[in-house]
Amino acid sequence: MAILPIFVAPAPVLKTKCAPVEAVTPELAKLMDDMLETMYDAPGIGLAAPQVGVSKRILVVDVARNDEEPRPLKIANPEILWASDKMATYEEGCLSFPEQFADVDRPAEVKIRYLDEHNQTQELHADGLLATCIQHEMDHLEGIVFVDHLSTLKRGMIMRKLKKLQKQRAA
Ligand code: NI
Repeated sequence: MAILPIFVAPAPVLKTKCAPVEAVTPELAKLMDDMLETMYDAPGIGLAAPQVGVSKRILVVDVARNDEEPRPLKIANPEILWASDKMATYEEGCLSFPEQFADVDRPAEVKIRYLDEHNQTQELHADGLLATCIQHEMDHLEGIVFVDHLSTLKRGMIMRKLKKLQKQRAA
């Protein structure tokens, strides 16, 4: 496995709509493993392929706490089959927006269909943090990032703070 470089906003690849995969080949299964390793190393609870510069509909998530067994999910071509009317608010962050956080409202529960690392179709009913995390990562596949859900004012503030942080880090 390998740790991949993570693209930080406003990298254009983060705003690019991703293409479906034809099948989860061994190469793409390896990409999923590399993405998981990259995510655990960061550390984060979700990572989408565009964040490592690959415009394909692939994402990985693991919302297990540190004191729990890992529960990695490797997901390709996810589709939302159902979303609850009930909404939930979580404070979200993103590995492409280091140190930036904001509340985002999303459906509290979703049912999805996807291809797993063995190219098998799976269905999953997610709620709580997992539902939010999957929707956040699925947004990435459309070129949508979490700050796109915020007001122009709040988004502008985050982009300025991010720019300042990157300048500090480069100095
Ligand atoms: Ni993200």
